[in-house]
Amino acid sequence: MKSVKERIEELTREINEHNYRYYVLDDPIISDAEYDRLFRELVELEKKYPQYRQPDSPTQRIGAEPLEAFRTIVHRTPMLSLENAMNEMELREFIRRVKKELGNNTSVTWVGEPKLDGLGVELIYEKGIFTAGATRGDGYRGEDITQNLKTIRQVPLKLRGENIPEIVEVRGEVILSHKNFEKLNQEREKAGEPLFANPRNAAAGSLRQLDPSVTAKRPLEIFIYSPGEITGMTFETHWDFLEQLKKWGFRVNPYACLLTHDEEIITYYNQMEKERDSLDYDIDGVVIKVNEIALQEKLGMRTRTPRWAIAGKFKARQETTRIIDIEASVGRTGVITPVAILEPVEIGGAVVSRATLHNQDEIDRKDIRIGDTVIVERAGDVIPKIIKVISEKRPKNSKPYHLPERCPVCGSKTLRLEKNVAIRCTNISCPAQLKASIEHFASRKGMDIEGLGEKIIDQLIRGNLIKSPADLYRLKKEELCALERFGEKSATNLLKSIEQSKSRPLPAVIYALGIPNTGEYLSRILAEHFSSLDRLMNASRDELDTIEGIGPIVAEGIVTYFSDERNRELIKALQAVGINPKIEKQQKVPQIFEGKTVVFTGTLTKFTRDEAKELVRTRGGNATESVSRKTDFVVAGPGAGSKLDKAKELGIKILTEEEFLTMLNNKKEISTQKK
Ligand code: IVH
Repeated sequence: MKSVKERIEELTREINEHNYRYYVLDDPIISDAEYDRLFRELVELEKKYPQYRQPDSPTQRIGAEPLEAFRTIVHRTPMLSLENAMNEMELREFIRRVKKELGNNTSVTWVGEPKLDGLGVELIYEKGIFTAGATRGDGYRGEDITQNLKTIRQVPLKLRGENIPEIVEVRGEVILSHKNFEKLNQEREKAGEPLFANPRNAAAGSLRQLDPSVTAKRPLEIFIYSPGEITGMTFETHWDFLEQLKKWGFRVNPYACLLTHDEEIITYYNQMEKERDSLDYDIDGVVIKVNEIALQEKLGMRTRTPRWAIAGKFKARQETTRIIDIEASVGRTGVITPVAILEPVEIGGAVVSRATLHNQDEIDRKDIRIGDTVIVERAGDVIPKIIKVISEKRPKNSKPYHLPERCPVCGSKTLRLEKNVAIRCTNISCPAQLKASIEHFASRKGMDIEGLGEKIIDQLIRGNLIKSPADLYRLKKEELCALERFGEKSATNLLKSIEQSKSRPLPAVIYALGIPNTGEYLSRILAEHFSSLDRLMNASRDELDTIEGIGPIVAEGIVTYFSDERNRELIKALQAVGINPKIEKQQKVPQIFEGKTVVFTGTLTKFTRDEAKELVRTRGGNATESVSRKTDFVVAGPGAGSKLDKAKELGIKILTEEEFLTMLNNKKEISTQKK
């Protein structure tokens, strides 16, 4: 029989191993229920026999007493910050400077890492046991947040492996994922607590909690990227250091990449900026580090920043500006949406002058007023949104904003639908609705009528030339020429684009109709299922319910749409002018990855990781994040790390990006036999 002490040791070891698999490798091998059973057993045993509790016991992650104040920890070596390069040119300048400094014949390699937008911290291990952790503070001294750091499951309580140095200090970044940030803010909203402005602030607030039980409820994460003092162990390169970190059980960012040519630095910087939107956490740039430690030492430091590293910052996505006005805009279904008209600002390379305010509830919640100075964010292709009002800058005489009681365009009464925050204009012939539906009809994803912009649509409606999208196809040149600022040439061109739009494919025509909740994706599904407008128009609720990807709300919307006589007439009118696309039962994409699981690791050059995953999915396969026995292929680009090692260990077929491309082009079924 095992002694109690042995069982406690065994449970500690096992649970720590499961934590590591779950939180660091993202590859659990037991169920949550099983894990909970082991954990409870350990808690019970430690309660009865506290003398046997291990220094790295997982129960120590939670349950520490609240502190009065944080103690100060002096960093053994200062925690430096980084010089910034604001664009490609400045990055090139940095490369040039380093090479000049080293002598242009020295061969130098680099490591690129994402610049994580969180909080820098230090973790200290003595004889392999986590003994203390601190914030970066002023770089020389930080706050002792050991208890809070212990709550982060990716912080090993004991280092893995043999021959661990006496002291191991490492630095990394604590972050909160977007998913967990949203969840946290939702909970705070329910509890009536102030919301965090962004994940970074939320992570900072969570780390600087005097009561660790509060931190324990916030699912913080950590990536390690930098050494502090490590006794009796040296590394030839930074890359070797990162590899060692993984062996010790730390989490290293999977996008870290070894870059051997100068030009790869630029590619990496641009590629990561594209990748930025597909990550579930914030990065605000990349960090480029000289890989060879001897060369790092040769280059040395300035007062606060190393000469061997630089932060290549991405274009900012948040800017401060002022709300000049709030406009109530009527959409094609009559919903009235408040839109903030902004003093134009450039964000991430585009000028932003409008931001949606969603609805009255949103305005009330953030107390947004005309004249306010606000922080606006534009992320990727997403519509700009207002993150926060800077209340200190609010003009004295400002008043809360309320959406108008009547439709701003036709003056009809508005209606607030029950259980729905939206306000709607009740007039079905409201010209604003007509205008919005024509805009949608003519849009690029719809009928793609070039030259039919907002102003012209306005003129056509005011001139009584169109009352429905079908009227566009009956327009005559003389009618157009009679409009203000319309010449012979522009009239001819517009009529030509209208004529061309008659040959748009079925999915585009369905999209153009503007059926509620039916965007580009669902239009394609509907087109593929029904193959013609006639069949779609007469679809029964029962048939719609059988289509995968069409939920009850969408199905209801489609049935309601086609039960309205005016919509049926629109379809007939469109058909009468010659718009009657049918889907040629097109060949489906060959399902070459049917039943196969693919993992991507390292940097891809031909597509983003999301695109690559989508390519696998549309070909019947499954794209996952972690390598396990179930994985059929691993596609590895430069900088591939632990996933690649694991794939090799498990004998999984490994492909280069080129080979993956060849597979896609050959359209053949694939064998997973090892080469
Ligand atoms: S290395 C001497 N690597 O950026 C090198 N820092 O502006 C010092 N940061 O204080 C840091 N991601 O908190 C490094 N991959 C990364 C990083 C990173 C984020 C933060 C870190 C540092 C700040 C410097």
